[in-house]
Order: sequence, then structure tokens, then C-alpha cells
Amino acid sequence: MADFNDTVTIAAGEGSPGTALLGIGAYRPRRVVSNEEICEKIDSTSEWIYERSGILNRHVAEKDESVIFMSSEAAARAVASAGIDPELVDALIVCTSTYETYVPHAAPKVADNIGRNGIAAFDITAGCSGFGYGLALASNMIRGGGSRYVVVVGVERMSEGIDWTDRNTAFIFGDGAGAVVVGPSETNEISQVVWGSDGQQSEAITLTKTLREYIDETQEAPAPAPFLVMDGSKVFRWAAVQIAKASARTLEAAGVTADQIQAFIPHQANGRINSAMAKHLGLPDTVAIANDIEQTGNTSAASIPLAMETMLREGQAKQGDLALCIGFGAGLSYAGQVVRLPAKPPAN
Ligand code: UT7
Repeated sequence: MADFNDTVTIAAGEGSPGTALLGIGAYRPRRVVSNEEICEKIDSTSEWIYERSGILNRHVAEKDESVIFMSSEAAARAVASAGIDPELVDALIVCTSTYETYVPHAAPKVADNIGRNGIAAFDITAGCSGFGYGLALASNMIRGGGSRYVVVVGVERMSEGIDWTDRNTAFIFGDGAGAVVVGPSETNEISQVVWGSDGQQSEAITLTKTLREYIDETQEAPAPAPFLVMDGSKVFRWAAVQIAKASARTLEAAGVTADQIQAFIPHQANGRINSAMAKHLGLPDTVAIANDIEQTGNTSAASIPLAMETMLREGQAKQGDLALCIGFGAGLSYAGQVVRLPAKPPAN
């Protein structure tokens, strides 16, 4: 017999059986950098880059376009597009691997910037699958009753870590922020997550936060240094096989078949990986496949909400469509969900 007062039960709080994406917002940095400009510093051609990765342009943040600034813009736009009283937002999650400090984390400041100082606010780091992890947490927080309306931001300033003379990585990445509002719903519109990791391949993508140590050692601001290193073909092979399988399991977990979805929104890492996965899944030609990578590059944790926003804004997908989303990358890690898409966001 346990030795405690069992006449007292602790209230669990009331959750919602269903959750939904209520709004979406994006921030893309002003400066657009073309393949031609990238090729000024590496031995490559725009044609090679486009053919191997599907990228033509990427946005690169200027000094004032910090992680906090981009997150706050995207989050405010998502809340506005959700059409809810902003006072209802009671938690905010920032998914990023490129925020400049370990402490403090970014989310409390972003919450303050959107007029919600005081709410629960935290960051998560899961590389390019960060947004999927954040969305899973938000959805389960609402299902469990810890929160009601949660803003999830995927944001990266990848340009901070890029060595512009490294031809393995200089052309791939871009900066930006995408955000969604997740809230309770009578019908369930966000599936349970399918997620996982492979720590045995953790060295395949590394971004070392050595900036602080460098400054301490040299007592000066560093010249751009190669913090980001990626074994592209290793990640490519893992993605083409394992992530294609995880995508199929995501559909299964959602109880949805390939011919029932209208949109496929994979992490925008490489156009060829996306086509290979669509083929593996047997997606019918009617399914719109996100191709935001062409104009946005690979924005890591920001890529899925940014791609979703583009598809809605450009009319490749519409409110209520079923979309299969899957993020994958550093860790290695991945996270997939089937969601019903929110309304088209208002023009910025
Ligand atoms: O977001 C996180 C997850 N990341 C990913 O999923 C990235 C997955 N990987 C990729 O997207 C691709 O591996 C890349 C786009 C990064 C590279 O494409 P690839 O087809 O895998 O190229 P590779 O690294 O196998 O290199 C093929 C050839 C090599 O030459 P040799 O050895 O065949 O003579 C490279 O030296 O292309 C050469 N190469 C280049 N040539 C022109 C490598 N980089 C370049 C370049 N321009 N920038």
C-alpha cells in the first residue's frame, strides 16, 4: 500500500481532442542572392546548382533582420491571419538552430514583440526537422490541456554559419521565418507525428557554435568562418531511402492514403530528393509538390512553413487541402505530419 494521501487527486486540466492550423505567416529577408552571385566566390555554375539542387535564388538576411526580428514578423502575421483575438495565444515555440545565444533563448523576446509578454515561450533545436517537432509539441500541448493557442515559428539565419567560399554548402542555404497558429478544433486536422533520429550519423551535418570561443580567444570579431559542414551525399542517400519510408508511415499514422492528399510539403533540401520521395510514395500527378526551394533555398527549420505559405499564396494549394509534411536533416532527425491547410495568408 502506497504511503501517501490518496484522497487528493491532482487535476489534469482539460484538453481538446482535435487540433488545427488556424493561420500562417512568413518573413523573407529583403536581399535576394542569385546563383550567379554565389558563383562569384565558388568554382561552380548556376546550371550545375539548379540541376543538382533545384535552387535559383535564396534570401540572405541583412544586419537588422535578426532571428528575433524575422520570427516576430512571421509570428505576428500568422496571428493576424488566424483571425483570433491575439490575447488567446498562450504559448510560443521557436524552432531554430541558428539563434545567436545559448542564453537567453529567443521565444520570450518574440512573445513580447507580438504583444504577448508573459506566456509560455521556449526554443527547440532539431535541425531541419525542427518545425515538425515544434508542431508536434504544440498539438500535443493543446490535446493535453497545457495550452490552447500556440504559435510555432520555424526560423533560421543560415547565412551566419556559411563559408561563402565552400562550394559544398555555399549555394544551398537561405534565411527566413515561417510561423503557424495551432489551436483546438472539433475535428482533428493535425495527425499524430511520426518522428525519429539516427545519432550514428550525427556527424553528417554540423554547425559549431564556436563564435563565442573565437571572440574570447582573439578578442576580435571573426571573419566569416566555416561553421557549417555537411556530407551532402550521405544525407541525400539517407533522405531518399529512410525519409521516403517515414513519409509512408506518416500517411499510415494519419489514416490517409496517397490519393487522398492534395499537397506534399517536404523539407526543401533538394528538389531531386522531393521528386524521388513523391515517386516512392506513388503520389498521383494531381498532388501539388512544394517547390519553394527554387526561390528560397534550404532554410532548415523554416522551410516547411515557408513552402506552405508560398503554396497557399500562389494558389498551388488551398484552405482545407490535406497536406503531407515531412522535415528531415541534422541530428540526423525527422518528423512528419498530415495536416489540413489553413486559409491563404493576407498579402504582406
Ligand atoms: O537540410 C538538411 C538536409 N540536407 C540535405 O538533405 C542535403 C542533401 N544533399 C544534397 O542536396 C546534395 O548532396 C548536394 C546538392 C549538396 C550536392 O549534390 P550531389 O549530386 O550529391 O553532388 P556531390 O556532392 O556528390 O558531388 C558530385 C560532383 C563532385 O565531383 P566529382 O567527384 O564527381 O568529380 C563534386 O566535386 O560535383 C562536384 N561538386 C560541384 N561541382 C560544381 C560539388 N559541389 C559542386 C559545386 N559546383 N558547387
